Amino acid sequence: MQDKANKRHILVTMALPYANGPIHLGHILEATQTDIWVRFQRLKGEDCVYVCADDTHGTAIMLRAENEGISPETLIARVQEEHERDYEKFNIDFSYFHSTNSPENKRLVQAIYLKLKENGHISRRTISQLFDPEKNLFLADRFIKGTCPKCKTPDQYGDNCENCNATYSPADLIDPRSTLSGATPVERESEHHFFKLPEFTQMLKKWTRSGTLQDQVANKLNEWLEGGLQEWDISRDAPYFGFEIPEAPGKYFYVWLDAPVGYMASFEALCANTDYQFDDYWRPGNNTELYHFIGKDIVNFHTLFWPAVLESTGYRTPTGVFVHGFVTINGQKMSKSRGTFINAEDYLAHLDPEYLRYYFAAKLSSAVDDLDLNLDDFVARVNSDLVGKVVNIASRCAGFINKGFAGQLAQNNSEPALIAEFQAAKDEIAALYEAREYSKALRLIMSLADKANQYIADKAPWVIAKTDKQSPEIQEICSTGLNLFRMLIVYLKPVIPTMAQRVETFLSVPPLVWDSVDTTLNGHTIGDFVPLITRIDPADVAAMMETVTASQANAKTQEEPKAEPVDSPLAKEAICEEIQFPDFAKVDMRIAKIINAEHVEGADKLLRITLDLGLDAQGNPTIRNVFSGIKSAYDPATLVNRLTVVVANLAPRKMKFGMSEGMVLAAGPGGSDIFLLEPDNGAQPGMRVM
Ligand code: MSP
Ligand code: ZN
Repeated sequence: MQDKANKRHILVTMALPYANGPIHLGHILEATQTDIWVRFQRLKGEDCVYVCADDTHGTAIMLRAENEGISPETLIARVQEEHERDYEKFNIDFSYFHSTNSPENKRLVQAIYLKLKENGHISRRTISQLFDPEKNLFLADRFIKGTCPKCKTPDQYGDNCENCNATYSPADLIDPRSTLSGATPVERESEHHFFKLPEFTQMLKKWTRSGTLQDQVANKLNEWLEGGLQEWDISRDAPYFGFEIPEAPGKYFYVWLDAPVGYMASFEALCANTDYQFDDYWRPGNNTELYHFIGKDIVNFHTLFWPAVLESTGYRTPTGVFVHGFVTINGQKMSKSRGTFINAEDYLAHLDPEYLRYYFAAKLSSAVDDLDLNLDDFVARVNSDLVGKVVNIASRCAGFINKGFAGQLAQNNSEPALIAEFQAAKDEIAALYEAREYSKALRLIMSLADKANQYIADKAPWVIAKTDKQSPEIQEICSTGLNLFRMLIVYLKPVIPTMAQRVETFLSVPPLVWDSVDTTLNGHTIGDFVPLITRIDPADVAAMMETVTASQANAKTQEEPKAEPVDSPLAKEAICEEIQFPDFAKVDMRIAKIINAEHVEGADKLLRITLDLGLDAQGNPTIRNVFSGIKSAYDPATLVNRLTVVVANLAPRKMKFGMSEGMVLAAGPGGSDIFLLEPDNGAQPGMRVM
């Protein structure tokens, strides 16, 4: 089976997760979609390689390492370990997991660049950009904030206004400032390297219409192509964590040039230890297939820049790029401020990964639509399908066979028509997996499970057993039930590989493959029934959401380029009324140092806290007194010298014990479990919190 003739040779990738943050359920959706497809191919006996890597370069990673006081290399090594561990727990079966900060990637991207240059596809010109004179670096748009030039809303990002949706260049902002240092950016010139993407317009028009893309995606691209392409800036100035451009000292490849090359690098690293040949998969004219699984936010990189770069440099273009939508939680975007940002680790601490693989599969289609993880539906669906329908068949039949027949299955199946019906579904289910229509595949499989349950209910072996526990009829009914169950497990194996493995042990059979459904088990002796999967306890889901909310209340603000621009660490309970961004933007949150804290005579909850908010415009220290209800949680002496976050522009309020000139931010369930929000290392009093 594994050596079938004419097998396909397929290379599959999924997007490389950024090394500046943990794996979250969005990544797990992508990994699940990809892994199911890969496992399905392998089960059918195709030769299917699955590579991935961490995406390690860029400013955000450099700054985060600096913040933690470690080298970027140390940071990315630690993160890669965490990423690999999380994926492994979700049973993601990579052939190789590499890093974009690898020798293979460096060599490949440099060679690709030199080839692009040789082909005349690189241009160079000087551009003017905003520069942070304190940090000494050029500022990407997301590191610049200021007042919108159009509607005058303060605190807008460098490229567009959240209030009036105007788009502009960062230089147009009124009072621009660097979010890294607070300094006013200055314009500075520098020479950049550009990839001449417009020269590939005709090629891309053809490629996007060649059946490689979903219609939804091809239509979107068509709009971009009709609108005209622009040259792509592929260089960044030092300091930058990445690879230096050959013959251009101080210039580095923009992370998005070397990231997709990371697919090649990971495959090359695999080739070093196997018989796979790099050129078989990356040069045109070989009978191999290449597929990229990605999310909808990175379509342009994979369907414009990447195929054009491959085309220019004599590599093959992808056979298909498969785009999925975004995970939402209970209908809400994953967001830290809403307490709906679930990391893989949070999930794994409470729940079996196989539940989520099943649920995602039950909702995935080939479309670009978002996918909602509704937690109540998750519990209901998994319990009803996997436990109530599938496992139920085995648990109803196994006892009779083990107790009455020493584990031996009957020589004959009592219901050949039903067996044949299950076998006949094989090609349709295969076609649905192939087309990434997993939800349709699972619906079909569950309708078969219903039939198997119906069959057992109709035959009611437990009724026959009342008079004769060893009636051959019972053996035939239950053997048929277990054979139907075995076929369902073959069909489900790409989705729930761990449970399938337990079934193999229970049935005492070698690993099931796709063609295992063509035969049945007769006269075979099975093992003891083992618990295959337990019901989801809704209390575990609730416990997970509690840790998610709690960890996010304490979360340090971390740099995530594509995350929501506003990530305020509010506890879930504290969310009252939805406010608009301009309302939020009015809140001036600053880092403050607690210079004194004392009990307040006669108050049982309050502490009087004296704060240093750094220097004001005249260079004088800003000292504030606030009253804060955190007495139950902190001994005042332990607070002195700690940094915290305060709302600095709250109007002073006269309280029973004196004036309060601001508010210290804290979170937690209450009582002695209140936590002051503690800023990251390297924060200084007076810095603005965003
Ligand atoms: N590093 C780049 C990809 C480089 S590929 C050469 C990147 N990294 S990422 O960590 O931000 O995202 C990795 C993948 O996860 C992307 O395909 C992205 O679309 C996907 N997702 C990130 N958040 C997601 C959801 N909330 N839901 C589903 N997928 C999401 O982009
Ligand atoms: Zn505006």
